[in-house]
Amino acid sequence: TIGKLTNILWHDCPIGQFERQKLLNQKGYVVWIAGLSGSGKSTLACTLGHELHSRGHTYILDGDNLRHGLNRDLCFKAKDLAKNIRRVGEVAKLFADAGLICIASLISPYRSERSACRKLLNNSTFIEVFLNVPLEVCEARDPKGLYKLTRARKIKGFTGIDDPYEPPSDCEIVIQCKASDCATPKSMADQVVSYLKANGFLQ
Ligand code: PPS
Repeated sequence: TIGKLTNILWHDCPIGQFERQKLLNQKGYVVWIAGLSGSGKSTLACTLGHELHSRGHTYILDGDNLRHGLNRDLCFKAKDLAKNIRRVGEVAKLFADAGLICIASLISPYRSERSACRKLLNNSTFIEVFLNVPLEVCEARDPKGLYKLTRARKIKGFTGIDDPYEPPSDCEIVIQCKASDCATPKSMADQVVSYLKANGFLQ
């Protein structure tokens, strides 16, 4: 929760969102990709970034990468997970306010925190993509060997194993993946691009 602001007042400048968007000739918004570790969020974010690059100004906020800098002080305990999601939501809001198409990819396991980010973006500029890859598939992929370490009890509190993952009840896009049937990153990105076009986010 956000603390009460005391003695802090908002300061506006003459050049605002409208002027920035006019200069860039685009409106900023956030594509928020959520899903388990190993579901392919970063790959989808990069592929989508590549697809959108020729059509507009983009920026990717990757959970792993942000934990090398801005969020390096955070661990994976519930309180820090919530902080992580809130911070990325705030940064994404700034990027959208700057006029960019911001692609955020992080596990973001908590529904309430994702909703709070949606609220920050006034709902209309927050497009939530749930990369719905079953745990068994993510665990079989195990690209970083973290599931193996968790099963060997060398990592505690791993999302989806001994820490909760709350799937969205309603989000703009669900990308469904089954063990034997998983779309390519390009066709997943195409699914997102189609949504963006159909909903007036892209021409
Ligand atoms: S979160 O839940 O939104 O704060 O996660 P995020 O910032 O996206 O970071 C997820 C990556 O951190 C690695 N990692 C863990 N994930 C989940 N639980 C635990 N305990 C954990 N420890 C390290 C993991 O590689 C995640 O990367 P992805 O790309 O999701 O696989």
